Amino acid sequence: MGYKVAVVGATGNVGREMLDILAERAFPADEVVALASRRSQGQEVSFGDKILKVKVLDTYDFSDTDICLMSAGGEASKEWSPRIGQAGCVVIDNSSAFRYDADVPLIVPEVNADAVEGFTKRNIIANPNCSTAQLVVALKPLHEAATIKRVVVSTYQSVSGAGKDAMDELFSQTRAVFTAGEVVTKKFTKRIAFNVIPHIDVFMEDGYTKEEWKMVAETKKMLDPKIKLTATAVRVPVFIGHAEAVNVEFERPLSPEQATEILRNAPGVLVIDKRENGGYMTPHEAAGEDATYISRIREDATVENGLNFWCVSDNLRKGAALNAVQIAEVLVNRKLLSKARPAA
Ligand SMILES: NC(=O)c1ccc[n+]([C@@H]2O[C@H](COP(=O)([O-])OP(=O)(O)OC[C@H]3O[C@@H](n4cnc5c(N)ncnc54)[C@H](OP(=O)(O)O)[C@@H]3O)[C@@H](O)[C@H]2O)c1
Repeated sequence: MGYKVAVVGATGNVGREMLDILAERAFPADEVVALASRRSQGQEVSFGDKILKVKVLDTYDFSDTDICLMSAGGEASKEWSPRIGQAGCVVIDNSSAFRYDADVPLIVPEVNADAVEGFTKRNIIANPNCSTAQLVVALKPLHEAATIKRVVVSTYQSVSGAGKDAMDELFSQTRAVFTAGEVVTKKFTKRIAFNVIPHIDVFMEDGYTKEEWKMVAETKKMLDPKIKLTATAVRVPVFIGHAEAVNVEFERPLSPEQATEILRNAPGVLVIDKRENGGYMTPHEAAGEDATYISRIREDATVENGLNFWCVSDNLRKGAALNAVQIAEVLVNRKLLSKARPAA
């Protein structure tokens, strides 16, 4: 018997990718329902070789739906995810609304799949922030090998991480620069075309941004609360694919050769690391791919047991949609859906 799956936010960047990935991976669904806001009612979206007509979230009855892949932003999630969970449907949420709730597991299957069992308290499972997802996939096997003490990460995040309107803004600004038109800024705080912006999400009291704080809190929740992490999150004029320059200090020695071997064998990771022109991965090449790519692995001789590497992944896939579908696969493969809290 297959499952009934709803995708909320099906007209968005992440929702469309979720539909593609469910089809690509032949997820065992008897029925897939596309949901969005009233603005999109009746709009058509692709699901494999089928076309789905978008229904409205507000009027949809979740009582016979098994899994809801939720990707409609934090506000919609705060309002809807608890209600959907109470209807007996397991929500896999892409927003940050529930990530730090002790009763909601935060999952990257390559890192902490076993923690998924905790979903029964609220019938909600959280997907991490895109920049954290790819980072922890790489850190987990290294942490097991040599115990990470401290991580310093600088991100180079594509505009698709801010939704479809942000992609349109990069496109229209780039066109305006070339045609000597007016460069209009709406979604970003400064011009993003031919520029980089050291600001993602809101500012916190300590001067960090929420995006940077999320990487700290989520790495601690999923990997190890003892890991110290400091981040600088930067938006760059790339459509799809996030890159990260990562510096790691370990408790025990780990050579670049050992780290390379460990990462070559790690789930979800592909190492592309030839020390020559072009022998590394870039966001452009990672777009549309599932793996987290690691390049430029080398020693940081300025600290004891230090390594540097470069980490690239498709933020809409491993950073969001793919990870959510992988969580749904864990629920199915471990036969956990029967444990979902019954309808309230
Ligand atoms: N993009 C990434 O890299 C990434 C990574 C991790 C997590 N996320 C998270 O995933 C979520 C979606 O991101 P996105 O990039 O796909 O955004 P997006 O392209 O702007 O799409 C937003 C989607 O949500 C729907 N929506 C918004 N408000 C709604 C409401 N009140 N009721 C029902 N549907 C509503 C929109 O429907 P309409 O078309 O009808 O407005 C649209 O389908 C966000 O929470 C984001 O933080 C994104």
